[in-house]
Amino acid sequence: MCTEIYYFSGTGNSLVTARSIAEKTNGKLISISSVMDKKSIKSDADVIGIVFPVYHGDIPFIIRRFITKMDNMDKKYIFGICTYGDSSGLSIKYLDEIIKSHGGKLAAGFAVNMPYNYITPSFVIMGFFKSFALREVAIEKQQELFTNWKKKLESIYEFIHARKEGVFETSAEIIEHLVDFLNLKEILGKTVWLKIAGFEGHTNLPFQESLQLMDYGFRCDDKCNRCGICSKICPVKNIKMVDGSPVWQHHCEQCFACLQWCPKEAIQFGSRTSHGKRYHHPDVKVSDMMMCEKK
Ligand SMILES: Cc1cc2nc3c(=O)[nH]c(=O)nc-3n(C[C@H](O)[C@H](O)[C@H](O)COP(=O)(O)O)c2cc1C
Ligand code: SF4
Ligand code: SF4
Repeated sequence: MCTEIYYFSGTGNSLVTARSIAEKTNGKLISISSVMDKKSIKSDADVIGIVFPVYHGDIPFIIRRFITKMDNMDKKYIFGICTYGDSSGLSIKYLDEIIKSHGGKLAAGFAVNMPYNYITPSFVIMGFFKSFALREVAIEKQQELFTNWKKKLESIYEFIHARKEGVFETSAEIIEHLVDFLNLKEILGKTVWLKIAGFEGHTNLPFQESLQLMDYGFRCDDKCNRCGICSKICPVKNIKMVDGSPVWQHHCEQCFACLQWCPKEAIQFGSRTSHGKRYHHPDVKVSDMMMCEKK
């Protein structure tokens, strides 16, 4: 019986989760970005786990692309785990739908609460939402989340070890369905988020895919020491070093690894992140993140 645990992670929450499940199941830990250059992904495993962060109540675009590359998902026991900051929304439901449309079946999907690693639109007096600030999570709250995480992983492991089926953990279902029904992500979300990120043009990409253009909001300030870590850590090779400085290439996953891992805190998003405390999971090292490059 062979198990493979695939993961995508920007700040390590999903990486520690995937790593822990891989240890418990004696499974092979595989970074999703390390297999994305393949035309199709054929797995010999009987059990497949997919671990990822929630992005805007949905699955990251890279997870969608990853599933569409998997070509033999039938007859496998597949489970998903999303990590989230305050609400996992319908991400497990969307994972279920995309797996189903590619010939597989999601046996179970779990949502694990972790520290939030992203930005929040910040209100500027006399104006509308003008920029973004990092949403910080107090250290005590982080510790509480890590303690609960351990217990939650134990229960997930027991569930999947027994090959049970039928748990699909979602939250704020009514609101999320209403958002979908009213098409609010397309009509409002896309316009507002891209505009405050500084994207001036027009795009027909659906909301989740349009996040690739959010990297118009990144810049690096004069604290940069030209170490190149941001370019090496980017899971989708979206950062080129030009004359020693990072330049974003507009196929971003918005994982925030570049900003959160920059050792000089030199990467900013818009105008209000320079004083924000950076976050990454305490048990993950920058070298663990670089493993994304290898298989
Ligand atoms: C682009 C983006 C969108 C996010 N959207 C949500 C969200 O809708 N709900 C939520 O609870 N957390 C959201 N988060 C927070 C992450 O899901 C959460 O911190 C996750 O554990 C990060 O995992 P990672 O460390 O593996 O990258 C978002 C983070 C990013 C980067
Ligand atoms: S990681 Fe930070 S300091 Fe290093 S090159 Fe990138 S922006 Fe500059
Ligand atoms: S550019 Fe930054 S935020 Fe975008 S995918 Fe790369 S590391 Fe993640």
